[in-house]
Amino acid sequence: MKATVITYGCQMNEYDTHLVESQLVSLGADLVPGVDEADFVLVNTCAVRGKPVDKVRSLLGQLRKVKAQRPLVVGMMGCLAQLEEGQQMARKFEVDVLLGPGSLLDIGQALESNERFWGLQFKDELHEHIPPAPSGKLQAHLTIMRGCDHHCTYCIVPTTRGPQVSRSPDDILRELDLQLAAGVQEVTLLGQNVNAYGVDQGARLAGYPSFADLLRLVGRSGVRRIKFTTSHPMNFTEDVAAAMAETPAVCEFVHLPVQSGSNRVLRRMAREYTREKYLQHIDEIRRHLPHAVLATDIIVGFPGETEEDFQETLSLYDEVGYDSAYMFIYSPRPGTPSYKHFADLPRELKTERLQRLIARQKEWSARRNAEKVGTVQEVLLRGDAHDAGFLEGHTRGNHPTVVPKAIGASGAGVYPVRIEHATPHMMYGRILDAFGEPLPEQPRLNPEAAAVTSPLQMA
Ligand code: 5AD
Ligand code: SF4
Repeated sequence: MKATVITYGCQMNEYDTHLVESQLVSLGADLVPGVDEADFVLVNTCAVRGKPVDKVRSLLGQLRKVKAQRPLVVGMMGCLAQLEEGQQMARKFEVDVLLGPGSLLDIGQALESNERFWGLQFKDELHEHIPPAPSGKLQAHLTIMRGCDHHCTYCIVPTTRGPQVSRSPDDILRELDLQLAAGVQEVTLLGQNVNAYGVDQGARLAGYPSFADLLRLVGRSGVRRIKFTTSHPMNFTEDVAAAMAETPAVCEFVHLPVQSGSNRVLRRMAREYTREKYLQHIDEIRRHLPHAVLATDIIVGFPGETEEDFQETLSLYDEVGYDSAYMFIYSPRPGTPSYKHFADLPRELKTERLQRLIARQKEWSARRNAEKVGTVQEVLLRGDAHDAGFLEGHTRGNHPTVVPKAIGASGAGVYPVRIEHATPHMMYGRILDAFGEPLPEQPRLNPEAAAVTSPLQMA
């Protein structure tokens, strides 16, 4: 069998794609890069907003056409698969295999079945399953918990991914050991709300550590860089900031979604914290980690959001001065309380607020990135950048970074880089040698073309 998995959505979905791909390989499948070569196409879906749902709908429509021409098995997994909305789509587009986020390990059974196979149960064995390490990668994801116990009124995830279940620290460390043996240098601990690690009932009964203690534990594994995402401010404790500060491998990067700066909107979102409480967490983080890089998620145009509420989001943005932000227009999702009870705001109003927020984010990202010019950052370079002769990667603070290939440093690796130029979205620098001097650049095949595109030359 020749299989391909197409992934939408977040890092949890990327992790699940890796898990399912490794299952497919162990079932004897060859992984192929595209639909043309495949006889099994599995779509890993996201349901958090209308846009990813629309993308899946159009892809499934295309796949149904391919199916009319030649034998093809079509599968659907991920958050949308768990919802009635997704299942209707699956029926319409003649999907053969449907796996909810809790039943990924049913993939073998699904492919053996001669009939349409739908798996929608949340199965415990998934939490104990340890996928093999990704090969040839410096970065890996590691799921430490699944599901979410919060009930933000806009969010479909508690429905799609079920209640929170923490994985055992033993399983987490075992998976990490495999990744380390495979050469991984940066691991991102994943969960819908990693700060609540260990607080679900099963985890408490089993005596699992708190998230702060898990960070300390993982920090002793020998992994070079540890990141984590994502956090709910409600479960953020000062001990997490303390653990970050005392564990050198943990990167000084915190993604703490605020969603809105207005207490009135936060209440309607059922976020369980106030603007003041959120800002207190930011203070705690800065007290322990004065150079912390801060990122957030913001929803604009939540039902009932007034211009005044929106101004409070802008003023909170200024108060924190985030390095980066993911900004979204509120998208009413069937099955959520806000969809049922609140009227959506006009599209133009939401779009206009988003544009104003993006302008604010750009100002701050430009300022924050400019502060890094002249500093030395530890950059994990993944490999070739879009421009020939350059490598791309990211800092400990998750800043996307581009450097010219250097003699002795022309491929993936973790290097010290002096930042020489920054835009709101990208930093540019040069790899340094052991004495802090730039390594000589690798001669380019076509130096004139490279000179035109080199951001360092433009600076
Ligand atoms: N509309 C817009 N954005 C949403 N998010 C979650 N649900 C919605 C929705 N219905 C955003 C939140 C969350 C991120 C993953 O997606 O900001 O943090
Ligand atoms: Fe990830 Fe949420 Fe999308 Fe599911 S709905 S894939 S958890 S972003």
